[in-house]
Amino acid sequence: MISVVILGAGNVATHLFKAFNKADNIIVNQWFNRNLKSIEAYKNKVDITDDLSTLKDADIYILAVSDDAIAELSSQIPFENRLVVHTSGSVSVYDIDKKHKRGVFYPLQTFSKDAEMDFKNVPICLETINKECYATIKNLAVAIGSPKKELMETNVKYCI
Ligand SMILES: NC(=O)c1ccc[n+]([C@@H]2O[C@H](COP(=O)([O-])OP(=O)(O)OC[C@H]3O[C@@H](n4cnc5c(N)ncnc54)[C@H](OP(=O)(O)O)[C@@H]3O)[C@@H](O)[C@H]2O)c1
Repeated sequence: MISVVILGAGNVATHLFKAFNKADNIIVNQWFNRNLKSIEAYKNKVDITDDLSTLKDADIYILAVSDDAIAELSSQIPFENRLVVHTSGSVSVYDIDKKHKRGVFYPLQTFSKDAEMDFKNVPICLETINKECYATIKNLAVAIGSPKKELMETNVKYCI
């Protein structure tokens, strides 16, 4: 079982929540957004919070927030040495606070909240700084059905 905490409640976060929620071997321990209203509709399915000091333990913290919020929000997570990934294709993995194990989980797809999404058709670009973390995010991508496909820009970037 892979446990995740989602941070953010926009297009990407919402589709990821739905996909994680459907997968047998993923559990969403918590969903954070700075504005609770956006996730209130899900409160019977998942623990929701707008308070970073109450963040729960998880294998992976997913920052699905606006590109310019990634660095600051990552620094506000009140833990160290956890695996924290963002979902952007245009922000460096190094923008995540260095107190974390850092990575990228970038779906190669344009999302809109209302359109149905099947991750079987969505390759996900994966990147981790620590090699041992790569398997964890790869397993997460596989668990939501992302297709396997090689795309290597550097030796630390992968796409499945
Ligand atoms: N949209 C796409 O097609 C797509 C595809 C692949 C990857 N991505 C990447 O995925 C990430 C999320 O994109 P999105 O389209 O889901 O964004 P979005 O729909 O605009 O949602 C942005 C989310 O970020 C939160 N946020 C913004 N500024 C914040 C701050 N300073 N502190 C905390 N939270 C903040 C917003 O909170 P509020 O609800 O409170 O405003 C909202 O939940 C981005 O990195 C984007 O590049 C997007």
